[in-house]
Amino acid sequence: MGTHHWDSLRQGERLAALRKAGTQGLDPAAPDDTLALLLAAAHMRGARTALEIGTGEGLTALSLLSELPDLRLTTIENDAARRERALAHFAEFGVQDRVCSLEGDAALVLPTLGGRYDLIFLDGPKAQYVHYLPVLKGLLAPRGVLFADDVLLYGWVDGSAEPPQKRRSIAARLREYLDAVFSDPDLYTVLCRTGEGAAISVLREKSGRAEREGAAVFAAREQGVPAAGRAGAEEEQ
Ligand SMILES: C[S@@+](CC[C@H](N)C(=O)[O-])C[C@H]1O[C@@H](n2cnc3c(N)ncnc32)[C@H](O)[C@@H]1O
Repeated sequence: MGTHHWDSLRQGERLAALRKAGTQGLDPAAPDDTLALLLAAAHMRGARTALEIGTGEGLTALSLLSELPDLRLTTIENDAARRERALAHFAEFGVQDRVCSLEGDAALVLPTLGGRYDLIFLDGPKAQYVHYLPVLKGLLAPRGVLFADDVLLYGWVDGSAEPPQKRRSIAARLREYLDAVFSDPDLYTVLCRTGEGAAISVLREKSGRAEREGAAVFAAREQGVPAAGRAGAEEEQ
């Protein structure tokens, strides 16, 4: 067997080292195969605006921003210390001008966002995916990609492994998320068994419901959410 060079990540040494170190911690960055799939989805969509739920230490964000030089990214994190480390990484790699980093609970931040995103990377609290879905649909650009990571979670979701008692409700909420995206006529969804499972949903081009839900989200925002908390793709540019 010869040596092959089929590594689609081709990341620099520093980012590779950060990613390797990150695999030891809690809430690690997306694994290599999932990241490669995410980058492929971003390229296929020609993404210029992206939203990430769950910044962590900013490592997947760095990969996206390095691979797509025209991309602007909004990313949400509720852990202040992690967000600080992510900000330091963005500065170290010189991408800080293309990032809008928001601190807070995604459930509260998401309804304040404006604009439409070509790519949404959903990598925050798993039990909340199904609750975020209506708002996220409203934030997707036409043919936008909603990439949800860890949807199979150790086999607990599709029944191939028994979840521990205290994880049963997360598994049930993830099943609800998968049921919702697969039964939604506005979305084309594929389930990929990379990492802990990724559900990739594409908003169909002619999606009346998404437009209506988007309008409802924006109307609600106009009625009650303070302007100071707003940020998003449109405001960033
Ligand atoms: C798997 S890590 C994110 C990794 C990152 N996306 C990457 O691939 O490099 C999940 C992150 O979501 C954050 N998180 C958890 N609950 C959250 C919430 N309600 N709102 C915002 N962020 C949250 C956690 O603090 C954690 O940093």
